[in-house]
Amino acid sequence: MLLHGCWWNFGLLVVLTITTTVMRFTHGAPLPAPNLPDDCNSEERCCMPRPYTGKPRRQFAFNASLPVRLRRAANLVDEAYIAKLERAVQLQRELPDTDPRSFSNQRNLHCLYCDNALYYPGSAWPLEVHGGWLFLPWHRMFVYFNERILAKLLGDDTFALPFWNWDNQAAEPPQGNILPYFYARNKSSSLWNKNRNNCSEPPLLVDLNTVGGCTSKTPEELRIQNNRLLYTQLVSGAPAPSFFFGLPYSYGEAGQMGSGTFEDSPHGTVHLWLGDPNPDKPAGPYDDMGNFAVAARDPAFYGHHSNIDRVWTIWNSLPGEHRREYSHPDFLDAQFTFYDENADLVVVNISQALNRTGLRYDFCSKFQ
Ligand code: C2O
Repeated sequence: MLLHGCWWNFGLLVVLTITTTVMRFTHGAPLPAPNLPDDCNSEERCCMPRPYTGKPRRQFAFNASLPVRLRRAANLVDEAYIAKLERAVQLQRELPDTDPRSFSNQRNLHCLYCDNALYYPGSAWPLEVHGGWLFLPWHRMFVYFNERILAKLLGDDTFALPFWNWDNQAAEPPQGNILPYFYARNKSSSLWNKNRNNCSEPPLLVDLNTVGGCTSKTPEELRIQNNRLLYTQLVSGAPAPSFFFGLPYSYGEAGQMGSGTFEDSPHGTVHLWLGDPNPDKPAGPYDDMGNFAVAARDPAFYGHHSNIDRVWTIWNSLPGEHRREYSHPDFLDAQFTFYDENADLVVVNISQALNRTGLRYDFCSKFQ
């Protein structure tokens, strides 16, 4: 038995060595910035408005004159802040369909980058930002520009998104591990979304372990299991970037080679808890967050991803010299195209996404 185990390990080692060697030779081209809005061939109808009417596309540059924006925990924000967030999202919903910054076009932009919609000229594979090392940096920049667009609509450069701290397992209110109540308390609010699973209504606790659906677990069981999962995905199971960020993805490859520890759960499980694509029900309106094409039309998407971004900064601060980003040029030089707060096209390199000092936002307190 032991011998069998040894041979198995040896075999695994050989396979891993061959894979890494092959990867070393096949890498060498970072993903270039897709040409928006033209490189779009989407069955989900998530192309961005054409023709493009903004300034010529340029490289994204940091703006050192911006104030540092502080994102606050969703369970601790006050009514004045909620009113502001509601107004910003309302203004965004009112933008016309010709404006790439509009609420529905931001949903399209997320869909575009992950739902078989963007093909580089001549490429057999669609660009896919999930399932590998693009996941964290792409979503950071998506949320970054969303925040900047809301700030622009409010005329307030200090505006910051909240973060929905579902990692907080406090037993007493204000709890982080429920859907923040401002997303759910008022049907006429711009933060409301009707397409959610009934079992995600406050004060029901989030289940970070289960893929979709309602649960019969007690609150106490949920808190314990949620904490265990967070420890495994963030601490014990993610000592190096290949674990936390997911596997490499270079130009010409199919992508989705393997997600990082955090991408499937809790990131994916929170999506599926809120928007349950229950296989027993016909595909329905309750599944927004559970569906790549429409996830970003739930305002809670942005609070969720703001928290994913915060958890990334927590991971960076954990002990261990390998808890840092990949340094491979195919990672650092990979590029995305976004629309900035002025609706102009900008190209962002992942190396820029890693520079939060340059991006000028922070989290009120890391542990909340
Ligand atoms: Cu692009 Cu939370 O997914």
